[in-house]
Amino acid sequence: MNHKRVAILISGGGSNMVELVKSMHGDHPARAVLVLANSADAGGLKRARAMGIATDFVDHRPFKGDRAAFEARLCDVLQQSAPDILCLAGFMRILTPEFIAKWQGRMLNIHPSLLPKYRGLNTHKRALEAGDSEHGCTVHEVTGALDDGPVLGQARLRVRAGDTPDTLSARVLKLEHQLYPAVLKRFAAGDKTPALLP
Ligand code: GAR
Repeated sequence: MNHKRVAILISGGGSNMVELVKSMHGDHPARAVLVLANSADAGGLKRARAMGIATDFVDHRPFKGDRAAFEARLCDVLQQSAPDILCLAGFMRILTPEFIAKWQGRMLNIHPSLLPKYRGLNTHKRALEAGDSEHGCTVHEVTGALDDGPVLGQARLRVRAGDTPDTLSARVLKLEHQLYPAVLKRFAAGDKTPALLP
């Protein structure tokens, strides 16, 4: 089988990245070829190496806000592994329209809310403050607007009395670990119809 090549971009611990990597085996139409971080300190790099996946990093800090220069370096590194699909998995840098255009239709992101609700940060706190009875996560194609683009899948849960941003975040993260691999498998096989979990 001619597997789709997947690069996963992370900034932190990379728990979604680990689940994506673990899912890509057997008859899965894709394989992880690179885990790329924007800091050498991203905890996920070590976890990726332990799973035998190539890793690299491009530290954004020396670029001092020059996003185009930072992304030019990212593209250089990405090109070396020739990915077909980019998965943003807790990658906390805002990307320029030029970078997004280059990868449009081939770049996915996971976001911890039921988009279009709560783009940006502090999604769990905002869902609680709004008194929402349900909350969840979304995988979407990345387009020019922050945390926007066609929805490829959502997973939802009921907010419980006594939930805090931390308890909610932990339960949503478990859902993310189911949703992202499920969506990636469909996407890599050419299926862009939204997956709804559970
Ligand atoms: C995840 O909850 C992901 O949805 C969120 O960052 C976390 C990364 O966790 N992403 C965003 O907020 C993007 N807007 P991980 O490093 O353990 O996968």
